[in-house]
Amino acid sequence: MKVPFLDLKRMDEELKNALKSKFAEMLDKGNFSGGEEVQAFESQITNYLNSTFSIACANGTDALELALRALGIGKGDEVIIPAMTWVSTAEVVVMVGAKPVFWDTDENGLLASDWEKAITPKAKAVIPVHLYGKLVDMESLVRKAKLHKLFVIEDGAQSFGSFQNGKAAGTFGDVGCLSFYPTKNLGALGEAGMCLTNDQELNDRIKMLLNHGQEIRDKHDLVGRNSRIDSIQAGFLNVFMQRFGSFQTTRKRLAQMYLDELSSIDRLSLPLDILQQDHNAHLFVIQTDRRDELKKFLLERGIGTAIHYPHILPDMEPFRSKGEFDNARNLSERGLSLPLNPWMKDEEIESIVKSIQDFFA
Ligand SMILES: Cc1ncc(COP(=O)(O)O)c(C=O)c1O
Repeated sequence: MKVPFLDLKRMDEELKNALKSKFAEMLDKGNFSGGEEVQAFESQITNYLNSTFSIACANGTDALELALRALGIGKGDEVIIPAMTWVSTAEVVVMVGAKPVFWDTDENGLLASDWEKAITPKAKAVIPVHLYGKLVDMESLVRKAKLHKLFVIEDGAQSFGSFQNGKAAGTFGDVGCLSFYPTKNLGALGEAGMCLTNDQELNDRIKMLLNHGQEIRDKHDLVGRNSRIDSIQAGFLNVFMQRFGSFQTTRKRLAQMYLDELSSIDRLSLPLDILQQDHNAHLFVIQTDRRDELKKFLLERGIGTAIHYPHILPDMEPFRSKGEFDNARNLSERGLSLPLNPWMKDEEIESIVKSIQDFFA
């Protein structure tokens, strides 16, 4: 049985039809920038996440950059980020002229709790990344950040719909940034992202920055850019939001199947907390010393897997920096993401499990 890591063509017909109808409806209305779909999307998210302001933008990378710029972070400033994350988290810091300061993660890829040791007088902000969908301990992080007068920007690109003590990922810090890249658990049919904030002034600045620095047309008060969300993507996301709850239920059920069947293999580390509320089951990442062998073995059986991510950022040319990143590096060498998405069948999970059992037998 062939199982792709993720194949978006597999969306069910009912969903495809709802998306087609939305496109037809928007084509008839003729409004392709701003408009009611964008407003509806922002208010759906505000209601679901209980954030005061939800500002849709072009993608998750832009959301992070807009957050940094809105907070006035730039040349001469340092921003603390984890060594293991998608490149965007570091890229945006460099793009605004500031310096990324890398810190190690814990064994599961979340910014290590001793990150305060990275603080220098130049530090202005910290960006915790809720990697794979699991929330960083935000109460503790925000407390420490406040003590040192640092801004907190949450990289919630992978954690839409994760909640810690009832509070949503992205609503703990000064600004929370989301990505609706097609492979995410809430994904558009193209690019889209969002900033969340509870601060009126930040909301206003982000809105202006993503729309050429103008609050009203032709009055440019800031140097901004165009990072508006594509209205058609907002329309599609409104359709996806109607299904989000049931998709999450399926993800958790499939994750439970993996856990039940794989927990007896002691040479495998499993994401044991993936069923909890503070994990949205976006990615199911196992860890083993035989990662590359296992990946190859599964591929030979037609099973796709992915590595998030094979290299840590401070080892890469544009971000090269020294430090102790043992946990992050370990994860880059041991982590393997198994297929997990709402379009999978139970038999596929069973087949993957069987192959992994065969590999370790
Ligand atoms: C941790 C992390 N940060 C930032 C991003 C950037 O989001 P986007 O691809 O929408 O620009 C992503 C998603 O790709 C991500 O996984």
